[in-house]
Amino acid sequence: MRTDGFCCIVAMRRKGEIIRFAGKMQVSLFINPLTPREAMKIKNLFLALIVAFTVSMPPSAANAGITGSAHDFSSEGWTGGEICIACHTPHNSIVQGPPGSSAPGVPLLWNHRLTKPPQFYQMYTSYTFDGSPEGAYQGPTKLCLSCHDGVMAIDSLGDGFGNSGTNFITGPAKLGTDLSNDHPVNFVYDTTLANSDGNLYDPVTQASGMGGTIKDDMLHNRGRLECNTCHDPHDKNSIGKMLIKSNVNSELCLTCHIK
Ligand code: HEC
Ligand code: HEC
Ligand code: HEC
Ligand code: HEC
Repeated sequence: MRTDGFCCIVAMRRKGEIIRFAGKMQVSLFINPLTPREAMKIKNLFLALIVAFTVSMPPSAANAGITGSAHDFSSEGWTGGEICIACHTPHNSIVQGPPGSSAPGVPLLWNHRLTKPPQFYQMYTSYTFDGSPEGAYQGPTKLCLSCHDGVMAIDSLGDGFGNSGTNFITGPAKLGTDLSNDHPVNFVYDTTLANSDGNLYDPVTQASGMGGTIKDDMLHNRGRLECNTCHDPHDKNSIGKMLIKSNVNSELCLTCHIK
């Protein structure tokens, strides 16, 4: 709570609001010298205002939901001023699976071209990892990677495979096609995995801290650990990095890991 409050004040300062307010006070103090009692009153009022800002402002959020988030491309010419269109369309969405495969079509009225097979991903491995990820999987992770692998351009809209756009993701948000240095994704996280690992909570019974169990609130199709286990592409919480819950004191990690 205290940290959030601090962030709010910093955020307000950045916008210049508190600085401007403090500036005004200085001017009035200069014109009209105050008694120590009056000065104390103003100081208390100032503190009360800071407390009021702290309580009423959402934690350090620069945006509310997807609007204004890193996933709001409505200011780019290729979206025609819309937000959802970068990823979804109400009509004529992608229906086909990858060429030459029997995989089902893409759900969610998806409107972003997918990375063309045989571009598969190098998945996480380690001597203690018990999951079995699939490099060619077509779930939500694949949808995220249709921009975050850096192979597909962000502005490649519509049905099909291969690029139609030219605007590629760069910087730390580019995960690339080698996912072996990222938290494992694309695997089933169930009671069996938790038991064989020994240091994981059982997702079927353990609370997520968001109202239900880990299985209900964090696993795709109530079974798989995917990118959207930890992130909400619509940034509903606006707590930074599109996380589905805060990771202050590693509480996101400690939702599942017994450490
Ligand atoms: C940058 C890509 C992106 C944008 C932009 C985006 N979405 Fe999504 N959306 C996704 C992904 C990926 C999923 C699947 C993962 C998930 O459910 O979190 C999804 C899932 C959904 C779902 C089904 C699951 C749910 O949350 O109910 C709905 C409905 C949806 N989006 C609506 C919207 C609407 C409406 C907008 C515009 C205001 C929008 N999305 C903008 C990527 C996006
Ligand atoms: C339409 C392309 C597209 C899709 C699809 C997409 N993203 Fe992004 N995402 C971006 C871009 C572009 C950025 C901004 C990168 C930058 O700032 O350099 C971004 C930023 C992010 C960030 C950083 C946010 C921040 O505030 O720093 C996260 C986290 C993220 N995406 C997760 C996801 C996840 C998870 C999915 C799938 C559920 C997804 N993205 C799907 C294009 C996409
Ligand atoms: C187990 C939880 C977890 C999973 C699964 C996960 N992430 Fe993240 N991700 C995080 C956390 C936590 C951060 C913030 C790290 C930080 O701020 O230091 C993050 C940060 C990011 C960022 C921002 C990078 C930056 O510094 O700007 C992007 C983009 C991103 N993740 C995309 C993805 C994509 C795409 C997937 C699926 C392939 C994914 N994440 C899976 C927990 C996760
Ligand atoms: C939704 C539950 C969940 C969350 C949240 C989560 N993890 Fe994991 N994590 C798992 C599962 C399941 C595995 C696979 C464990 C295994 O089989 O060894 C895993 C694997 C790992 C591994 C590799 C273990 C190995 O044996 O190679 C590390 C390290 C790790 N997680 C760290 C983190 C960190 C750090 C965070 C927070 C940023 C985090 N996890 C968040 C569920 C989660």
